[in-house]
Amino acid sequence: MSETLSQLTGTKSEIYQSLLPQIEALIGDEQDAVANMANISAALKEAFNFFWVGFYLVKNDELVLGPFQGPIACTRIQKGKGVCGTAWLNAEAIVVADVDAFPGHIACSSLSKSEIVIPLIKNNVVVGVLDVDSEHLNHFDQTDLEHLTNLCQWFSEKL
Ligand code: SME
Repeated sequence: MSETLSQLTGTKSEIYQSLLPQIEALIGDEQDAVANMANISAALKEAFNFFWVGFYLVKNDELVLGPFQGPIACTRIQKGKGVCGTAWLNAEAIVVADVDAFPGHIACSSLSKSEIVIPLIKNNVVVGVLDVDSEHLNHFDQTDLEHLTNLCQWFSEKL
């Protein structure tokens, strides 16, 4: 396993195209979910310097905070609440250009301005979400959605 990420330059799309195979190689056949979520969070933070990036996992019908990189965050989110709980309820990714315009957005930090949440779906059931926050408005676009969805589809099967 390589312990450094390489070639994290270029356009956003180029960075994702370089990064995702490196994440797959980094994880390899490691089975430990916490270790893998920790490294995925760290790799995304290193590549894009996101304000906050991490995982929530479904436990006893709540989302519970998992490995992440960034400021401290709320520990539990109910189904249907906030961006994460809505992505869980609908089993659909959500891109939020302005968090203040999203009804029920849960502000773990007032510095977060835009957000993308991708559900982790295993055997047709949402088992968690990947949440990424930016301190810039309208930070996430179709490129983020496509690549992060691919990452989550690949990773969900390992959970
Ligand atoms: N903003 C999220 C809560 C999680 S934090 O951003 C890390 C939401 O509305 O679900």
